[in-house]
Amino acid sequence: MNETIEAIRKAAAERIRSAEVPASVEELRVRYLGKKGEITSLLKQMGKLSPEERPVMGQAVNSLRAEIEGLIEDRKSALLAIEKEAKLLSETVDVTMPGKPVNLGHKHPLSIVLDEVKDIFLGMGFTIEDGPEVEYDYYNFEALNIPKGHPARDTQDTFYIEDNILLRTQTSPVQVRVMEKTQPPIRIISPGRVYRSDAVDATHSPIFHQIEGLVVDKGITMSDLKGNLLALAKRLYGEDTRIRLRPHHFPFTEPSCEIDVSCFKCHGAGCPMCKDEGWIEILGAGMVHPKVLKNGGIDPEVYSGYAFGLGLERLTMFRFGLDDMRLLYENDMRFIGQF
Ligand code: PHE
Repeated sequence: MNETIEAIRKAAAERIRSAEVPASVEELRVRYLGKKGEITSLLKQMGKLSPEERPVMGQAVNSLRAEIEGLIEDRKSALLAIEKEAKLLSETVDVTMPGKPVNLGHKHPLSIVLDEVKDIFLGMGFTIEDGPEVEYDYYNFEALNIPKGHPARDTQDTFYIEDNILLRTQTSPVQVRVMEKTQPPIRIISPGRVYRSDAVDATHSPIFHQIEGLVVDKGITMSDLKGNLLALAKRLYGEDTRIRLRPHHFPFTEPSCEIDVSCFKCHGAGCPMCKDEGWIEILGAGMVHPKVLKNGGIDPEVYSGYAFGLGLERLTMFRFGLDDMRLLYENDMRFIGQF
């Protein structure tokens, strides 16, 4: 039996040393130490030995087992270490490689100009009000002194939800809504989306944006209107900007006007931007009609006010020199990425 033990020791040591992957070490573990392994069967043969031989051989087999176990453990961890090393080498990260570019978004040109206008008015003590886009006929027309059948309705055809509920054609309905819930002094702007049943072209869209302004207090006059809107024009288009008020008509203001700014490209000399006029129209305005004040629950004998409506698309187009409004809605990255 002694020879057998020696033979196993030699062969096992040789095989374990030459195993090249952890899996073959595992095979050897089963071959020598497993249930049907060579060592196990040696132990089984112990019964055939004489009582004197047994303890001696038992010790020899046990120490062989311990030896093989040790060899297997050592070989296994050596191979695992080699594997790990190779893995680490193949997975190295090159921290000097350029990163993946992250495209940061930015404000849409309409938002850029709207935020500027908001800033200007907030700086003059105005607050910002919101109003519904789905509006009652009453607020959009009736309360603004545009009764059913009034010709002013023809120029503001819109989309009807029901007979008396529509998509608002202007931000002016916010005027009466604000007056109903606030007593003067009132000093607000109200930006938002408005709708008209217009076909899309370079200067029209069925959805666009207005910024309404309303100031009501004791002793408000046309000069307040002019002063505030001149301040706005200077802030938007530069200190040397002039404004001009042209008489106009809106049913809900009296007197009414349209306000032009001196062309910021040619400063009044005439150029393609202002169509050789030297002036560019930017808004409609006027003194709030006494009937509208009354509709808002405000006594026109005590208070007066002015209102104005700015077209955000127009402001934005002039601001950036755009000649087609559709550019603002198409979200073409070649255009939008330039701002
Ligand atoms: N709501 C008017 C329009 O859409 C503009 C306006 C607002 C005029 C306020 C006067 C006062 O044309």
